[in-house]
Amino acid sequence: MALVYLQGSLTCTTPEERRAVLALLPLHLRHSLRDPACLFFDFKQGDDPLRWQLEAGFASAAAHAAYERRAAASEWGRTTLRLRRREEMTEAAPEIRPEMAEDPRALSLLIRAAFGGPEEADLVEGLRAAGDLALSLTARFKRAYLGHIGFSPMAAPFPAWALAPLCVRASVRNQGIGGALVQAGIAEARARGIAALFVLGDPDYYGRFGFSPVAAQGYDSPYAGPYFQMLNLTDAALPKGALRHAPAFDSLPG
Ligand SMILES: CC(C)(COP(=O)(O)OP(=O)(O)OC[C@H]1O[C@@H](n2cnc3c(N)ncnc32)[C@H](O)[C@@H]1OP(=O)(O)O)[C@@H](O)C(=O)NCCC(=O)NCCS
Repeated sequence: MALVYLQGSLTCTTPEERRAVLALLPLHLRHSLRDPACLFFDFKQGDDPLRWQLEAGFASAAAHAAYERRAAASEWGRTTLRLRRREEMTEAAPEIRPEMAEDPRALSLLIRAAFGGPEEADLVEGLRAAGDLALSLTARFKRAYLGHIGFSPMAAPFPAWALAPLCVRASVRNQGIGGALVQAGIAEARARGIAALFVLGDPDYYGRFGFSPVAAQGYDSPYAGPYFQMLNLTDAALPKGALRHAPAFDSLPG
């Protein structure tokens, strides 16, 4: 599965057609943006009053086809049927890159929506405010935020980071974005000389990246248990000892 990037234009030939487009456009934009599979939707006018430029992103080709069927059956679709359209559809992949200065607000919204509550977004904000967000990666598709992963330093007998939280926007799950974020985080942790990563999560998910609950046994941590997992990034066995997460984790509900 891949994301879909759509570019095109819609051209009227008469002032009447233009008036009809202008009358229906606000509702068409609202419906498009409300579609969970629509990741962004821009319908803009340049110097030519009879012409609009379209730029949009969709979660998948199937989701885009379903959207097109609904749009075609709407009043917008019927009214604009005879207008000149140009549309070019290409497959796209999200860009994984470090958090930038303009990202925090949008990331908080993404994290809240993905988890269905504020705790994880508050955790990221708390880590950031304390200077403990050692690595924050986003998955972006143009201006849409599709996923996020955060890492924070731990007190440990060796350089260690905690992986938390990880999330992907619901409409683009199961197409490898979560995995790409984890892999990019592991690569960056290795490059920065981190010896081990710890995560509290489902071993069925994190096991595919090499995390193991067995490896995390023998460490003293408030999170110790079957969901607490470790990924050793070195070739050697690492010493056991006490682990402490960054203070922002203390405000998470138990
Ligand atoms: C967990 C999450 C980040 C995965 O993102 P994603 O982009 O869908 O992940 P990927 O596409 O890389 O991987 C999808 C695979 O993981 C599996 N998977 C997803 N969540 C899982 C879970 N909690 N336990 C076990 N497997 C899981 C899917 O079934 C799929 O399996 P497959 O490859 O065998 O088909 C996403 O589902 C999410 O944001 N969930 C809500 C927030 C959350 O629970 N975060 C994790 C906190 S520890």
